[in-house]
Amino acid sequence: MKIFSLVDNGTPKYLQLAESVKQNIRKGNLLPGDTLPSVKSFSDDLHVNRHTIMKAFAELIAEGWVESKQRVGYKVGGNIPIEGSQKPLKSDAKQPKFKYRLVRSGPFIDYPPATQYEYNFSGGQPDLFKFPFNEFKQHMSATLTRPNLEQLSYGEIMGVPELRQQIENYLRKSRAITNREVIITNGSQEALFIIAQLLLQMGDQVAVEALGYPPAMAVFNNAGADLVAIKQDQMGIIPEDLEQKIQSGSIKLIYLTPLHQYPTTVTLPIARRMAVYQLAAKYSIPIVEDDYDHEFHYRCQPLAPMASNDPQQLVIYLSTFSKIMFPGARIGILAVNKTLAKAVAEYRMIISHKGNALMQLALAKWMQEGGFERHLKRITRIYMARRENAIKCLEQHNLFDFICPDGGMALWVKLKSTSINTSKLAALARHKGIYIQHEKQYHTVPQSNRNHYLRIGFASMPETKFNEGLSILVKLINTKAQSLS
Ligand SMILES: Cc1ncc(COP(=O)(O)O)c(C=O)c1O
Repeated sequence: MKIFSLVDNGTPKYLQLAESVKQNIRKGNLLPGDTLPSVKSFSDDLHVNRHTIMKAFAELIAEGWVESKQRVGYKVGGNIPIEGSQKPLKSDAKQPKFKYRLVRSGPFIDYPPATQYEYNFSGGQPDLFKFPFNEFKQHMSATLTRPNLEQLSYGEIMGVPELRQQIENYLRKSRAITNREVIITNGSQEALFIIAQLLLQMGDQVAVEALGYPPAMAVFNNAGADLVAIKQDQMGIIPEDLEQKIQSGSIKLIYLTPLHQYPTTVTLPIARRMAVYQLAAKYSIPIVEDDYDHEFHYRCQPLAPMASNDPQQLVIYLSTFSKIMFPGARIGILAVNKTLAKAVAEYRMIISHKGNALMQLALAKWMQEGGFERHLKRITRIYMARRENAIKCLEQHNLFDFICPDGGMALWVKLKSTSINTSKLAALARHKGIYIQHEKQYHTVPQSNRNHYLRIGFASMPETKFNEGLSILVKLINTKAQSLS
C-alpha cells in the first residue's frame, strides 16, 4: 500500500488517487493482471471515504487502466501494453527523432520582448496606452449582445463581409487602391506566409532590400527560397542593381517596403518605384508591397502605394492593423486580384478555416461609426509630436547622424563614432532596461563589417520617458565606448 498516495495536483481527491494508481502502472510497480488492494484497505490506509475510492476505481475502469472482476476485486487491465507498464521510461532515454518539414527557421531571439523593458525603443511599436479600449469595448460588447450565429460559425474565409467592405472603402479613399479582392488575414504575417507558399519553389530567389524586415525574410527562407539583397542608398533600393540581379539569377518575387523602408524609414521616390515596376513587368515578377504603417506620414500626404497604379496586376498589397490598433488584434490586409485571392482563400482554409469573426465584426462597427478615423487623427498628432521631440533630443546629444524621414514610427540613426559596435551597445543597454534594435538584425544577407546604426522607435513612449531612456543610452556610449568596439 505504501506505493499509493494522493497526488496533490489540485484536482478532486478521487482523481488524485486514480493518478497515483496510473503512475504506479506506468512505472512498472503494477503489472497487467495484478490485483489492487480492496476499497476498504485503500480507505483505511489513506483515510479517504470509501465512496471516493469507488469513484476513483470507476474512473480507472472507464479509462481502461483497471478491470473489475466479480468476487476477485479490481485488477490492472490485461490490455495495457507490457512495454509501457514494465519498462520505466528513463529520463536520459533517447528522444525519438522526427523529421520536421520546416525547411529553415527564422531568427530566434533569446531575450524578453520589447514591452518588458522600462524604455522601449522598438521601432514599430505603437503606444498601447493610447488605444481607446473603452470605446472599442462597446463594439465588442454589441457584437456579443446581438450575436450573428451564422457569422460566428464556419464560412467567410476571406473575412467577415462588413469588415472587408469597410477596408475596401478605406483603401479606396486613403490609398487610391481599387478593383482588388480584400482578404483579412491573421496579421499581415499570415498573408506573407501564404503568398510565399503559393508562389515560391525550393531554390527560387527573392529580391529583398539589403536591410529588411526579419519576419518576412524568415517566411521566404522557410518556403525554401534564397534571398538576394538589392543594394540600397539614401533613397531606397537601386533599380539598376535589381535589374542586374534579375538577369543573373532566378528571382521569382520582389519584396519591398516602399513607403517607409524597413528599417531605414526612407520613402522610395516615384521615379524608382516606376523603374522597379517596369522591371517587374519586363521580367514578369510579382512585387509584394508591404505598406505596414501607411497612416503615419507627417510631412506631407504619403505617396500612393504601388498597388494603386498597377495596370499589369503585378503588385500583391499587404497592410496591417498592428500599428493603428495593437499587434494582438491580428488583423492583416491582403489586397490582390481575383485569381490570387481564390488561391489564397483555399490555402487559408487548410490552415485555419476562418479568422476571428468577433474581432472583425467589432472592428467593422468601430470603422463604420467613425471611431477608427478619430483614433487615427489623434494618434497621428501624438506620434508627430513624439517624432519632433525625438529629433530634437537626438540632435542635442551630438553623437548621432540621421536624416529626418517623412513618416514612420522610428528613426534610423548612425553613431558618429564608427568604432562603436551597435550590437554590443544594444546588448549592454538591455541590462539597463533599454530595448533597442541595431543594424545587424536587419542585414538580409549577413555582413560582418557593418554595424553602425540603431533603429530608434519614438512612438511607444511619451516624450519624457524617451528623453530619460536616451540619456541613459548616451551615458553608456560615453562611459563604455572602449568596450563597445
Ligand atoms: C515591415 C513590417 N511588415 C508587417 C508588420 C506587421 O505584421 P503583422 O500584421 O503580422 O503584425 C510589421 C510590424 O512590425 C512590419 O514592421
